[in-house]
Amino acid sequence: WIASAAGLAAAYLFGSTPAGYLAGKLLKGIDIRQHGSRSTGATNVLRTLGKWPALAVLLVDVLKGAAAVAFARWFYPWLYTLPSVTPPTAIDQQTLLPWAVCLAGLAVLLGHSRSIWLNFTGGKSAATGLGVLLAMSWPVGLGAALVFGVVLAISRIVSLSSMSAALAAIALVCAMEQPLPYRLLVIAGGLYVIVRHRANVQRLLAGAEPRLGSGGRGSN
Ligand code: G3P
Repeated sequence: WIASAAGLAAAYLFGSTPAGYLAGKLLKGIDIRQHGSRSTGATNVLRTLGKWPALAVLLVDVLKGAAAVAFARWFYPWLYTLPSVTPPTAIDQQTLLPWAVCLAGLAVLLGHSRSIWLNFTGGKSAATGLGVLLAMSWPVGLGAALVFGVVLAISRIVSLSSMSAALAAIALVCAMEQPLPYRLLVIAGGLYVIVRHRANVQRLLAGAEPRLGSGGRGSN
């Protein structure tokens, strides 16, 4: 139990790494949570700090999602090699590992949007979610990224694209042959990402959500 909790805490801490916040502090001395949509995600970094910082934050946020899944896949089998830990049978390990990935995926999403370093504030977990998807099952991640790209090309609205990608990931993981823990991860994680966009939904309904390149600020 202690080891499982340590694995989960590690995933949460990966997610908590506040790349967008640090970019604001280091590059302009500002708290990005006081600007634009107040999110620490790459979209708000783009409107507040520009293209290159946004690209760097996007990369870190995607990587930390993938890293949490990769870490869970490495950590639990490694744990069973320790002399003091009684390893489950090989079949049990096969069953348990996808559950570890599921919990780590949810923990990293939570960490990104409720960072321990930022008084439990943060981003909307879309980019981190993409990293989780790519590491969990790359075809699901690729499908979601494609939907994101198509909706973005048509609408130029990032929030709409993120929510469409989250829905596409849910549809894909249900349509494809995937273990139950992966399905639960994507359904719960996808819905979480959509709920995190509720201020964006209100702006979308009011016709006030900024489009890429429009210079809009999109405050929360
Ligand atoms: O991933 C976040 C994006 O979908 C929306 O960001 O800053 O426009 O609320 P923002």
